[in-house]
Amino acid sequence: MTGPAEDRRRLFEARMGLARQLERGGVVLSGALIEGFLNVPRHVFVPRFFRRDGTTFRPWGMDDDPDAWTTAVYQDDSLITELDGVHAEDAEARAMTGVPTSSSTAPSLMADMLDALDVRKGSRVLEIGTGSGYNAALLSWLAGDAHVTTVDTSERLISLARARLADLGLRPETRRADGAAGAADRAPFDRIVATCSVRRVPAAWFEQCAPGGVMVVPIRGALAGGMIARLTKLPDGSAAGHVLHTPAAFMPLLSGPPPGAVAPPSEGGARRDSELSGSVLDNWTFSFFAQLHMTSTTVRAYENRDGAHLTTLHDPGDGSTARVADHRPGGPGSGSTVVTSGPRDLWAEIERAHDAWLRLNRPRREWFTISATPREQTLAFRAPDGRVHRWAL
Ligand SMILES: C[S@@+](CC[C@H](N)C(=O)[O-])C[C@H]1O[C@@H](n2cnc3c(N)ncnc32)[C@H](O)[C@@H]1O
Repeated sequence: MTGPAEDRRRLFEARMGLARQLERGGVVLSGALIEGFLNVPRHVFVPRFFRRDGTTFRPWGMDDDPDAWTTAVYQDDSLITELDGVHAEDAEARAMTGVPTSSSTAPSLMADMLDALDVRKGSRVLEIGTGSGYNAALLSWLAGDAHVTTVDTSERLISLARARLADLGLRPETRRADGAAGAADRAPFDRIVATCSVRRVPAAWFEQCAPGGVMVVPIRGALAGGMIARLTKLPDGSAAGHVLHTPAAFMPLLSGPPPGAVAPPSEGGARRDSELSGSVLDNWTFSFFAQLHMTSTTVRAYENRDGAHLTTLHDPGDGSTARVADHRPGGPGSGSTVVTSGPRDLWAEIERAHDAWLRLNRPRREWFTISATPREQTLAFRAPDGRVHRWAL
């Protein structure tokens, strides 16, 4: 049996533990940010979330096991709060399947992005993707709540976050809106941060970012090799910056009608062997590089079928498909068997990207720069021989 004082002590110690863990991690954080993580509680924003249970999710919270819940909340993990639009606090206590549509991001990733955002007292900040409200609380701590605007498309998420922020005495502008359009009436912003991913930085964010302002934006790739771009708005209206070292696969920014599901055609096609195994795309450094060589419509699926790694690449744009079955250990080598159909051999594109990656000495994502206007957004890498390679986003 624990009393309120004991509960407070337990939660505070857990929060201290998280701040120490962040300090020990690879990211060098400012004093203000460490103070933010010490002073802003996470548990207030995630009383209930979905825990993975094999292939399903189960809503779970403080009432189930206060000690285990405290440990989970102050671990460096993301916590799924919404599945297919159903909030964990509204879900029945049973196993569910679905696609996560909102989560509280892993604290070390939040810390890395906040550090890159370089928020000062009085910075005018726009956050796209309020979610639980925890990041909005940290932004309010750093900038002052009157300077923060946070938007999410879900009314349920917005009203929960607004109430929880207010309980902590924080009143940022919290509104239900499509973040792709920003928040024109509150612009200009000195800092814009998205916690959902986009293919390209939306034009409204350029327009609403003040010259000299900073945007930290997760960019979604074709192969789940997502990246976070840090851009500074230049006086001519364009923006330039680089890719952060942190790999990140954020939920997509949903704007407009939902895309229809695209199923690849049933099996069949030309068969060949490849020296490359499909699991090469599990290497996040390579998948980041490889996606630059694919059409933006390419989707990747993978599964383990009877212990064998099976990768499917499909481009609904022209119907091309490649199915890549890794050779089993002890089989004919470390490569794979590839079956392709449609006008393009999608696996050949990966093979060419892999050759280029090796030729360039396996470049890491943080070695890439990005330059962007609302119309043209380009990644560039300067090779050791001085040649600059460019890819359009
Ligand atoms: C990873 S969660 C955000 C985490 C949040 N910052 C936190 O601290 O809990 C991504 C969020 O983006 C939101 N989202 C998706 N599309 C959006 C859009 N067009 N405009 C605003 N928010 C959007 C989702 O509803 C979801 O809550």
